[in-house]
Amino acid sequence: MPRLENRRILLGLTGGIATYKSAELVRRLRDDGAEVRVVMTPGACAFITPLTLQALSGHPVHRELLDEGAEAAMGHIELARWAELVLVAPASADFIARLAHGLANDLLSTLCLATTAPVRVAPAMNQAMWGAAATQHNCAVLEQRGIALLGPASGAQACGDVGPGRMLEPEELCAAVQQHFGGAALAGLRVLVDAGPTREAIDPVRYISNHSSGRMGFALAAAAAAAGADVTLVAGPVGLATPPGVRRVDVASAQQMHDAVLACVDASDIFIACAAVADYRPAAPATQKIKKSAERLQIELVRNPDILATVTAREPHPFTVGFAAETHDVLAYARGKLEAKRLDLIVANDVSRSDIGFDSEHNEVTLVAADGTVALPRGSKVRLAHDLIAAIAARYRACRAREHA
Ligand code: PMT
Repeated sequence: MPRLENRRILLGLTGGIATYKSAELVRRLRDDGAEVRVVMTPGACAFITPLTLQALSGHPVHRELLDEGAEAAMGHIELARWAELVLVAPASADFIARLAHGLANDLLSTLCLATTAPVRVAPAMNQAMWGAAATQHNCAVLEQRGIALLGPASGAQACGDVGPGRMLEPEELCAAVQQHFGGAALAGLRVLVDAGPTREAIDPVRYISNHSSGRMGFALAAAAAAAGADVTLVAGPVGLATPPGVRRVDVASAQQMHDAVLACVDASDIFIACAAVADYRPAAPATQKIKKSAERLQIELVRNPDILATVTAREPHPFTVGFAAETHDVLAYARGKLEAKRLDLIVANDVSRSDIGFDSEHNEVTLVAADGTVALPRGSKVRLAHDLIAAIAARYRACRAREHA
């Protein structure tokens, strides 16, 4: 069943190039069952036509505060009452400032004042405008008032700058809306996630590692936090920002990851092992840089501890979810690991494909349990993480309910 079935979402668009993403956002929200009404400021209309949003939402776009026609049909107060959620995406620096000051000088700002529905804003602006003290102050005011900010993301901007200020992608905003209505599936629970690669030193300047970017594990940590969990993320060396509300412990080697996980595991209800942990490490890393002299160089490797197996060997241990990174016979190997490592669930992915898995924005996984499998089709890791967290939460609750029955 669509997760936003019959949900009433008022989407506000303010001026900015990111309005082109709002069109896709409307489509995604409607695909998921939501009813969407759109309000646009004059600035937004300069970037994208109301006709586009009307066609996508299936309803006339609201633009004027003092519009006799609109007031006769659905006026601003009715719109404010109609909404179950107000989402302003993109929210410009100017709109955020007006919202922070309680101004009501256009339809959208008036609606935000008049509604009793929760308001969420997805900032989108140049990185310098985002970093400006006035904008940061205004955002802090909004957050104090319970108006949550969704993003912004960091990266290349339309103006050529690079930095924070990009509006979140439509699927990320859609996931946040689903999260809002989905309730806090992991409220009160402590979730431990490991993510990213490990580095096994050969000498002070070289190491053995793998292609893990950490994206899948970071997305899981973010989704678990969004689902209300208290999240600790043990991260291998990756260049990713810490998701909001997540406690992060940085490590480099498999042994360090093992020690960090073991230090937190007794205080965790759920452990999700997404890290690509090196199975072997050099037996005796050189203390000085190895000089290029011999034609052949042999490095003796020894096994690293298996973090997941160590966790499930402890009693009691948390509800444990592993990953299986396979290049062939994916499900068969995943089932083998589920059993051998005594896991509650395992997430199987095919890492032979370049369009998913290692170092990709996307993945396609099969969730494997002792009693069956659920295939989750290819999608962004952000989107999949939300689906996985929902599935893990449901399984965890069912498992605990059986234990207490
Ligand atoms: O980081 P990304 O670029 O986003 O890529 C995501 C991913 C491909 C790394 C991720 O989806 C994934 O598959 N993670 C598991 C990688 C892995 O090491 O799989 P494995 O089949 O070799 O190991 C099985 C399980 O045992 C994993 O949960 C692993 O974390 C765990 N393990 C493995 C070895 C070890 N010494 N200790 C462990 O805990």
